[in-house]
Amino acid sequence: MARNRAGWPGRRAFLRWSLAVPAVVVGARRQALAQPRTLSPTPSCVDKGTPTPSQTAGPFFKPQSPQRNSLLEPGMGGPRIVLTGSVMSTACRPIPGALLDFWQADNRGGYDNTGFRLRGHQFADEQGRYRLETVVPGLYTGRTRHFHVRVQAPNQPILTTQLYFPDEPGNRSDFIFRPELVMTVRDGAGAKAGAFNFVLAA
Ligand SMILES: [Fe+2]
Repeated sequence: MARNRAGWPGRRAFLRWSLAVPAVVVGARRQALAQPRTLSPTPSCVDKGTPTPSQTAGPFFKPQSPQRNSLLEPGMGGPRIVLTGSVMSTACRPIPGALLDFWQADNRGGYDNTGFRLRGHQFADEQGRYRLETVVPGLYTGRTRHFHVRVQAPNQPILTTQLYFPDEPGNRSDFIFRPELVMTVRDGAGAKAGAFNFVLAA
């Protein structure tokens, strides 16, 4: 699997973007409000030394997903969500270039098992950060709402796990659910904003 990190903005471009934000907010507030708000990733390891728990991949993982930061496609239904966070070691050090491979159900609870709809991988940037634009996954029989993800530090074992939504009724009855894997999710103007930091044993 190619480890091409093209597509991440360089540090200089990122700084330019950061400096431009206040002008955008002041000059075009309505436009800024229309943009999905993203949460700042949790800045510290609350449970330092505790790796993110692994979970079953389930039956729907497919290798060789396309590299992309957005799984959105024209006509795709369901509320939007922007998920952000970091990949860190148990010593709270960022893991640049960590692989994140996401797959999920569509808003009706179905997986694409013939193509790569709502599947995609990306690599964390120099600060170990990732960003995913997608839709909120729908429910299917027997499971609460969730994302699937594989996370891998370069040349290290793969962590396979799932991410969950807070205050989801199905969390109480899903025997796979774990509260340590619940994202922070807030409503935004154009999309929900989710956040989750992965901690790898590497
Ligand atoms: Fe699933």
